[in-house]
Amino acid sequence: SKDYPVIIVVVGASGDLAHKKTLPALFSLYYHDMLPHQFAVVGYARSKLDREKFHDVVRSHLVCRITDRDTCERKTAAFLDRCFYFSGQYHDREDWRKFHEWLTEEIEWPMIHKQQQRLIGANGDGGGGGGDVQTERVPGRLFYLAIPPSVFADTLGGISSEAMAPESRGAWTRVIVEKPFGRDTESYEALRDVVSSCFTEDAVYRIDHYVGKPLVANLTTLRLGNFVFDVLWNRHCVESVQVVFKEDFGAEGRAGYFDSYGIVRDIMQNHLLQMMSIVAMDPPASPMAADINEAKVKLLRDMRPLRAKDFVIGQYDRYRAEQGVPPGSTTPTFAACVVQIDNERWRGVPFVMSAGKALDEKKVYVKVTFRETPNHSFVPEELQDRRNSIYIEIQPRPAVELSFISKVPGLTGRVVPTKLDLVYNESFVEEARDMPDAYERLILDAIVGDRTLFISDEQISRAWSIFDPALKEMESAPPMQPALYAYGSPGPILPETLIKKFLAGKMSSS
Ligand code: BG6
Repeated sequence: SKDYPVIIVVVGASGDLAHKKTLPALFSLYYHDMLPHQFAVVGYARSKLDREKFHDVVRSHLVCRITDRDTCERKTAAFLDRCFYFSGQYHDREDWRKFHEWLTEEIEWPMIHKQQQRLIGANGDGGGGGGDVQTERVPGRLFYLAIPPSVFADTLGGISSEAMAPESRGAWTRVIVEKPFGRDTESYEALRDVVSSCFTEDAVYRIDHYVGKPLVANLTTLRLGNFVFDVLWNRHCVESVQVVFKEDFGAEGRAGYFDSYGIVRDIMQNHLLQMMSIVAMDPPASPMAADINEAKVKLLRDMRPLRAKDFVIGQYDRYRAEQGVPPGSTTPTFAACVVQIDNERWRGVPFVMSAGKALDEKKVYVKVTFRETPNHSFVPEELQDRRNSIYIEIQPRPAVELSFISKVPGLTGRVVPTKLDLVYNESFVEEARDMPDAYERLILDAIVGDRTLFISDEQISRAWSIFDPALKEMESAPPMQPALYAYGSPGPILPETLIKKFLAGKMSSS
């Protein structure tokens, strides 16, 4: 409820993620009146900034999506009024202790004091209380960890030992963490041990921001809320599924990070696998977080672990010249693979995941292609290769398209490919103009304690066990050589080609 006060601590407030995503998302939530009545945003980072300087930095990253300049300036000023900054080291417990004291005295107390005044006012006004607030509430603390993995453990330790909200007074503490969740099972388990020694699972909110994107959030409704799709969602009707991520820029500016992870860890093991599990999971018992998690975990368990031979990998031609990339790097900037699911629903259906940087376009989509129609007499020869499909464009132009063939009206026997489409910008004009960013949805859910769109520990463990065997094979000496492709080209292989190869029995794993 909006009556529960919250303090959102952005740890790593001077970093890229905080500037580009976290702080703008918080501003937008405020701007749309979605945050609790009493809230504060507190930046914690190593840089020595005073509050004014922090405000300058924050201001330079805020965007008002739809309003006029005056309203925007007014709202920005009001938001900055609630923004504070504390400079501290991540590893220093003493700094975290000081932070806790400062937070309690400078932020928390004034909030509680305001509530007390309101309560007294309400009692004085007419007796018997009144208003929404019956008793004072100690703010919950939401720590958003926008920091590199190297300082994760120290930070979690500092927060849990020194800076927790007073539980005895009914206040909760939650942490939002984001990938990379390790680089394989072993490193993930080490990280998990650190996290679980500091926090219980229900206090940890693991973000995969793709799950918060509007069209990804709609995937479940689309397939499970519609009879026509629900009945078709299985191996008897579906021939193949594609989950595709394309970016038209390379690793410029962050090649140092990227080179030690590669596209498989950066995009496939998390964003694409999450989308795929939403597309392929059995219907959860209910829309509740625990049931969705159970359905996803079961699906991940049914997926066959990947091997190097399931992959085609590539690297764009200019990659090795990027600053921070070691000479002769074999890190893939493109990867495509066929995933197989060994369960009743999907046995034999190829799920192709494809992800690439520096390609010919920026686009993310899911495409479900149905089987050939058994009745060919109504399909002209030249269209017999065509299949019905549902195409869901996640970005940049959110849309759902159902393609089919149709007879052209009039005195003609001509049959053509057509589609029914739902283009968000046209059908949801108002909403599409002001579509919330994935981070807004997820931060808001963490504030209200809704875990539905967050990733459980078990999902991440399963995800690593699917990708580990392939990554080990690809990276052990001599490493698998990526095919070079031109910057701005479609990449070394198209998803359709991979599907064809698989269906023709030409992939070694089939
Ligand atoms: C991040 C990856 O998780 O997602 C980046 O690390 C990628 O490499 C980004 O560019 C894509 O996210 P979005 O929301 O811009 O599509």
